[in-house]
Amino acid sequence: MDFTMDLERRTLLKGLGLTTVGWAGSNAVQAQESSDLAYSTQEAGTVGSTVNYTDDVIYQIVTDRFQDGDSGNNPDGDLYSSDCSNLRKYCGGDWQGIIDKIRDGYLTEMGITALWISPPFENVTSVDADIGTSYHGYWARDFKDTNEFFGDMNVFEELVSVAHDNGIKVVMDFVPNHTSPSTADNSMEDGVLYDDGDYVTSYSDDPDDYFHHNGGTDYSNYEDQIYRNLYNLADFDQQEAYIDQYLKDAIRSWLDKGIDGIRVDAVAHMAPKWQKTLMDTIYDHKPVFTFGEWFLGTGESNQRYYDFSNDSGMSLLDFRFGQEIREVLREFNDDWEDFWDVIEETASQHDQVIDQVSFIDNHDMERFTVAGEEANTDLALAVLLTSRGTPTVYYGTEQYLTGGNDPENRKPMPSFDQSTTAYQIIQKLAPLRQSNAALAYGDTQQRWINSDVFFYEREFGDNVVLVGINRSQESYDISGLLTALPEGSYDDQLDGLLGGFGTSVNGDGSIDSFSLDPRTVCVWEYTGNTTEPALGHVGPTMGQTGHTVTVSGEGFGSSAGSVQFGSTDAPVVSWSDSKIEAEVPALAGGFYDVTVTDTDGVQSDAFADFEVLTDDQVSVRFVVNNAETDPGESVYVVGNVHELGEWNTDRSVGPFFNQVVYEYPNWYFDVNVPAETSIEFKFVKIDGDGNVTWESGSNRTYTTPSDSTGEYVGDWQA
Ligand code: NOJ
Ligand code: NOJ
Ligand code: CA
Repeated sequence: MDFTMDLERRTLLKGLGLTTVGWAGSNAVQAQESSDLAYSTQEAGTVGSTVNYTDDVIYQIVTDRFQDGDSGNNPDGDLYSSDCSNLRKYCGGDWQGIIDKIRDGYLTEMGITALWISPPFENVTSVDADIGTSYHGYWARDFKDTNEFFGDMNVFEELVSVAHDNGIKVVMDFVPNHTSPSTADNSMEDGVLYDDGDYVTSYSDDPDDYFHHNGGTDYSNYEDQIYRNLYNLADFDQQEAYIDQYLKDAIRSWLDKGIDGIRVDAVAHMAPKWQKTLMDTIYDHKPVFTFGEWFLGTGESNQRYYDFSNDSGMSLLDFRFGQEIREVLREFNDDWEDFWDVIEETASQHDQVIDQVSFIDNHDMERFTVAGEEANTDLALAVLLTSRGTPTVYYGTEQYLTGGNDPENRKPMPSFDQSTTAYQIIQKLAPLRQSNAALAYGDTQQRWINSDVFFYEREFGDNVVLVGINRSQESYDISGLLTALPEGSYDDQLDGLLGGFGTSVNGDGSIDSFSLDPRTVCVWEYTGNTTEPALGHVGPTMGQTGHTVTVSGEGFGSSAGSVQFGSTDAPVVSWSDSKIEAEVPALAGGFYDVTVTDTDGVQSDAFADFEVLTDDQVSVRFVVNNAETDPGESVYVVGNVHELGEWNTDRSVGPFFNQVVYEYPNWYFDVNVPAETSIEFKFVKIDGDGNVTWESGSNRTYTTPSDSTGEYVGDWQA
């Protein structure tokens, strides 16, 4: 079963006048003296921030394929392939195996500081000749129980605790879009759903319509992808109050087990604003870094993807970066200029590009490594681990595991060799992400480029990392290279692993001409001592009054200054030179700039547009009937609360849908609104040029539900 790409192809305009983002302390003053206090967000044996992963390296594990630590939990009979010759069956890997690989040093010595594991919940246990089994974990049956072949809840909790004891965070994969294959054309279980052991419903006997029954999506548009089944997977109707609560209760229970992050499956296939209520639920319970999977194919980009990343409260897997690095260093179809275009596009389009989760391969695409071309994997890992974003390494990439599309890209771990070049690259660069804040927070500057050679620089506060790479078989003379590295000599942080060497920087920031050999990477770094507040990261990026927000960066000072949301001071919970916890102050819903001011009164650059939510969020379906429109016009809702744009039609919510659940001239949209609130609103029509037509009559009123979903239905007021 190949994971079909999102077919919506809205190619972005290139060259929108994009510039590198500079909100993060680019004006910070150079330190006066050098410091022996190396910056680090994480001390040995302690786990890092659950809301800031920018200095982490995530290691993605397909649990069934990593390590069998307990043969006692392996399935019997047809579900199981003991030698894993059938890659669609269970092969025995489990949480005990991951625990063992933490304990024996394989994972910790690699330097990774977070694990992303397969969906942990109970899955269907049937076998189908064509589509196989649920070894991957994406075919849930009971979201409140564990997959017995991975372990029971005690083992899960042990995994979390052993990981934490070893400074590793645990990210779980969550799949709120669907249960399992639904129809009679396979030997599966008809999408059956259980609630902590109790039967709830199944796809063909679903009296309360807990699933959508609108057929399968052809990916023709966003609405179709959301309200029809992805493949034949039984597609939840999250607007059904029971399902809404079930999924939110389930994720709360896993948060209570100690997980530190969440990867959300198939976010292009669920109502975006319902997902915003999910994010509010998560942040209200226990704030953890959350990133969604919105699959983009090679060269694919679209505005909805960026809008989701900026609005939903979660980040995305960085498919723009991942697909492009593959074009440059695996396919050699594109060159570094194309890569730079993607760096600029993503910097400009994402509010927070550093929170997007970058990768070079994963379980839904061919493995990066091509047999005989292992050196390309090495180059790509070096770029991944020094680039902006939160890098993820797919299990086995460090062993040069090869394989085509699913399931060939999910072969068992071939070995746990700690001497491969790829393993050593991760081992050298993962700690650098923690010790030099330029890698976590810095923007990216181009320093020297042609189709084969790229020198890029990351800078934050008083820290600089300069990376140079030659992907070709030719040597290049590099002249005129300039850097922000201070005058002095620098060693290659890869210790020559990829042919790199040291360099000297002149007083004017120039580096004398030199030759860069084929297939070479150099990494030069300067860790400074930032003495004025440089704000690198805020997490989460939305929340309610009273929620705790973590502000990370450097130079905040050792004694507490103040944190502002707009012009309002936020109660400070804890303060250190690199990390502040503060509460969202009592503010009306809206967008606020966050700044840090030290005890000398020096204020940081602003982190733009933190979203204060009015209250707990619930999802309400707004339906307006008989709204006839001219070509190019769509229906939106606008109203008196922040979530409905506060009567500002530029912030009205939509465009509404009109094809699947209700059909034109009837329109609908599922919207996050504050709970238990009497709201006023109107529907509007907006055309492609932004011209607004208000409906007439008085404002509509509706009292939103307290903790469930709601629906408002009305006729267009002509
Ligand atoms: C995306 C997952 O990564 C993929 O492996 C899975 O099959 C689909 N979503 C459906 O859950
Ligand atoms: C302006 C619109 O014209 C009107 O119809 C609407 O009721 C108000 N905004 C909201 O107070
Ligand atoms: Ca096992």
